[in-house]
Amino acid sequence: MSERKKVTIRTLFDKVVKQKPISWLTCYDYPTAYFQEKAGIDMILVGDSLGMTMLGYDSTLPVTMNDMIRHTQAVRRGAPMVFLVGDMPYMSYQPSVETAIRNAGRFMAEAFCDSIKLEGGAEMADRIEGIVSAGIPAMGHLGLTPQSAAALGGFRVQGRGAAQAKKIIDDAKALENAGAFAILLEMVPDRVTKIITERAEDCIILSLGSGPDAHGQLLIYHDMFGLYPKFKPRMAKVFGNAGEVILNGLTQYAKEVSDKTFPAPENWFTIKDEEYEELLDLLK
Ligand code: KIV
Repeated sequence: MSERKKVTIRTLFDKVVKQKPISWLTCYDYPTAYFQEKAGIDMILVGDSLGMTMLGYDSTLPVTMNDMIRHTQAVRRGAPMVFLVGDMPYMSYQPSVETAIRNAGRFMAEAFCDSIKLEGGAEMADRIEGIVSAGIPAMGHLGLTPQSAAALGGFRVQGRGAAQAKKIIDDAKALENAGAFAILLEMVPDRVTKIITERAEDCIILSLGSGPDAHGQLLIYHDMFGLYPKFKPRMAKVFGNAGEVILNGLTQYAKEVSDKTFPAPENWFTIKDEEYEELLDLLK
């Protein structure tokens, strides 16, 4: 039984009012979710980044709704009290408002999410509006939106030019007006984030590499523990090198099996002498 109280939208808005920053991490599996909840993290994102961090693809595009649902269910089992956000994968909301509502509904009904997140600006406002009118809390995602990385010219900071920054600010307002309760800004310059946060009236602004002035911070779990071997984004802070600990342990295991120092007697099970004698008799 978790000792924590359920984190709800109300809890998150209360933190904003009290100017207490919200902590948010990605997570894709049961044991990590268990530890994140125990550590007091407010929100978990089951991101479609799992395509890269867990499934080894080079982008998030191949991730399906079924992939997302399975991982999100595991996370919910490990973290029943956190505020859980399901990330709508590529083509689960782009085709139409109806597709968006149906897939958002799957996150709620099958994986017990508290909200969904989808990428895109004003052009996605009708998707947000449709999902919200179906009674599902919806979050927007602006700046670097990995599902559109090809159109954006790769994984790069968005909004460094004044015109592009203005577009992100306008998009944020369009999403808020469409009913988004929160917006994630990914790799947006700090002063642009500050403007968006100051202008937000009824919307929580969250930052991934977008500076300290948002209402909360997101990190990719695999980046913070050295668990993604292909690269580490500049903005990520490494809080511990679990990748190195695991690699050392695996190397040691391979060595001990090879030189027969593993297993030791405490690592196996025995049979009582009398049972063993009886067994030998039975085998005669
Ligand atoms: O999929 C994900 O983890 C995300 C983050 C990169 C924000 O959307």
